[in-house]
Amino acid sequence: MELAILGGTGDIGEGLAMRFASDTEHTITVGSRDAAKASERARAYEEQLSAHGIESAINGADNSSAAAGADVVILAIPPHHVGDTVEALTADDVLSDQLLISPAVGMSGDEDGLHYRPPSTGSVTEFVAERAPDSVPVAGAFHNLAADRLADLEATLDVDTLVVADDPAVSERVVTLTADLAGVRPIPAGPLSNAAEVESLTPLLINIARYNEGMHDVGVTFN
Ligand SMILES: NC(=O)c1ccc[n+]([C@@H]2O[C@H](COP(=O)([O-])OP(=O)(O)OC[C@H]3O[C@@H](n4cnc5c(N)ncnc54)[C@H](OP(=O)(O)O)[C@@H]3O)[C@@H](O)[C@H]2O)c1
Repeated sequence: MELAILGGTGDIGEGLAMRFASDTEHTITVGSRDAAKASERARAYEEQLSAHGIESAINGADNSSAAAGADVVILAIPPHHVGDTVEALTADDVLSDQLLISPAVGMSGDEDGLHYRPPSTGSVTEFVAERAPDSVPVAGAFHNLAADRLADLEATLDVDTLVVADDPAVSERVVTLTADLAGVRPIPAGPLSNAAEVESLTPLLINIARYNEGMHDVGVTFN
């Protein structure tokens, strides 16, 4: 499968690229607004993987080229820019039947911690779905995974990630994709209208990490 990670030059993009490269046979393309930056980051990820004995070729491309050649597109982009990115891909007729996965969460911070700030649509995932063509399936996943922990290949994972999608078949595709990541258990959490509840766990986890020593990069498991 061809997997594109737009904004894959950033934190969660790096973490997902490292884990998908180490645990699956998918072809991974790191996307960026700047193709040269994407290629440079892809080489850096390959070097990190190689240092762990994993020889994996990772491509780098501008976001549009990365998405055009993909079966699955992960939107690893800050919440305030993910809508513009999807609109640009739509305007350029790049999107046809790719599955879009949003891990994005709207948050703002104050002296007490981070607070969930969804867009008026209710959640970033629904905001993405509004901006994508109707024919393009959209799901939410990976919101509650800590980027640093994913990127650290020495770290053993034992975390759950919640998957939202309107079409159960789309949810199942994301579950199947995610289940290949060692130590990551995907759990369906219903349609996109449930995305806000899923996204809102992220500021909670970050606040727990802040107020509890030794809980940096904490995740969730549902038992
Ligand atoms: N960090 C985490 O642990 C984590 C975990 C789960 C979910 N998330 C979510 O994942 C998303 C990305 O988080 P992150 O921490 O990886 O963010 P980040 O490192 O700050 O940014 C990711 C990438 O977004 C691209 N970007 C920045 N501004 C942009 C713009 N105006 N238009 C288009 N692309 C832009 C940049 O790539 P280029 O400059 O190369 O284009 C950047 O490398 C967020 O929505 C966040 O809520 C993060």
